[in-house]
Amino acid sequence: MLVQLVFASVATQPCSQTQEAILQQARKHNADSAITGALCYGYGIYLGAMEGERSQINRIYAEVLRDERHAHAQLLYFSEISERTFAHWPLGRVNLESLNPSAILKYIPQWPPQPEHWTAVSALAFLKDMVASASVVAR
Ligand SMILES: Cc1cc2nc3c(=O)[nH]c(=O)nc-3n(C[C@H](O)[C@H](O)[C@H](O)COP(=O)(O)O)c2cc1C
Repeated sequence: MLVQLVFASVATQPCSQTQEAILQQARKHNADSAITGALCYGYGIYLGAMEGERSQINRIYAEVLRDERHAHAQLLYFSEISERTFAHWPLGRVNLESLNPSAILKYIPQWPPQPEHWTAVSALAFLKDMVASASVVAR
């Protein structure tokens, strides 16, 4: 069964120092497990999406929760899906700080972005907006 999971969390170290290692490690794992997704980072937060076989998503998310490079992970969305949103990317990236802030503020009630500002509805709309505006980068 194909499912999608979306979470938000707080970076425990500056994203700029850890994002490359996370992306490289995760891309390899995800490609091996037919998982696709995106990792948005910046302003001290992560907003992550992963999609794939349910058992694989449960397994990877359990690892992600144990990862000390972030904390206070909020599970925003977990659902069966009919199609992937990030089919092109084992783990695409979005640097939140390289976007026009209005592209984020459109979806959250306060600035700066915090994990608790995101809901399932706003996070999914934002992620789809990132795909549609070609803001998801493969490498
Ligand atoms: C915000 C965040 C998102 C992550 N996303 C993924 C992911 O999509 N896939 C993945 O395999 N690992 C992801 N990781 C990394 C895992 O937590 C974990 O470090 C990794 O799977 C372990 O790799 P290793 O067994 O090669 O050391 C993420 C970590 C963080 C902090």
